[in-house]
Amino acid sequence: MAERAVVAVALSSMDSASWIEPLRQACATAGLDARFEVWDGRRIDARYAVVWLPPPQLFAVERSLRAVFNAGAGVERLLAMPELPPGLPVLRLVDAGMAPKMAEYVCFFLARITRALDRFLGPNPLRDWHADRPRGAPPIVGVLGLGAIGARIAQAVAAFGYPVRGWSRTPKQLAGIEAFAAGQLDEFLAGTQILVDVLPLTDETRDLLDRARLSRLPRGAHLINVGRAGTIVDADLLALLDEGHLASAVLDVFRVEPLPADHLFWHHPKVTVTPHLSGPTPRLPAARQIAEGIARLEAGAPAAALPGYVDRARGY
Ligand code: GLV
Repeated sequence: MAERAVVAVALSSMDSASWIEPLRQACATAGLDARFEVWDGRRIDARYAVVWLPPPQLFAVERSLRAVFNAGAGVERLLAMPELPPGLPVLRLVDAGMAPKMAEYVCFFLARITRALDRFLGPNPLRDWHADRPRGAPPIVGVLGLGAIGARIAQAVAAFGYPVRGWSRTPKQLAGIEAFAAGQLDEFLAGTQILVDVLPLTDETRDLLDRARLSRLPRGAHLINVGRAGTIVDADLLALLDEGHLASAVLDVFRVEPLPADHLFWHHPKVTVTPHLSGPTPRLPAARQIAEGIARLEAGAPAAALPGYVDRARGY
């Protein structure tokens, strides 16, 4: 019988200890015999690691790792670690319960924008039964990035009756979603009134939405970013909000997190800041995906055959 797999858990801000029990439960369900240990810097001869922004020395100390599981969808910071061994397979979460929560978050803000709900909220709410009601055609919503999360968002938005278009690196056909591919970004943006950014951060998407691209959006467009902040040039976004080209921005992700207290986004009247909570990683579904992945690797499956296998050259 194969020796019991030891799994190092190094989740920094996500509180490693709180993941041990869900991981154990998920293992029992997956029929996997593994021991999970919060990684404290000492070598435990781990065969796998479950990480979120792990300490860099993990990879130098644990030299028997066969794969590393990222306890989130975005892997840009893990891939940027020079300590990450080049040949070590990296797996990321695919949906794992994040997608429906992020879709809910986006739909909440769509209702807020399209019904001008801010009028009725806050310390001085409008108390007018006859307040304007929008009765025109719903705005066109454009979803940038159609992976597991973007696709779920696009479908949730379409289910509320919005015309939805989606842009993805490789063409994707989703029922009810008008598809745009790589060479059609400008055309996609020109017809988008509410832009939802769900892009991962890669060499191709870094600074993608700069002044020129954001200016393609029609005047009065809104932006919701639940992907990665590095896809948008902050200064260009602020300038277009100030000039009135863009009506508002809802930002859940930032180039520096936590967002520094003196950052202009906190204080800008057209910007809503939320602290990276649109899709908090739910522990049990995430643990299940990780345990199933380990079980399949232990059974001899190649890492590249698993959901969430990261193509390092592509960046996600
Ligand atoms: C959150 O941002 C994630 O990458 O899962």
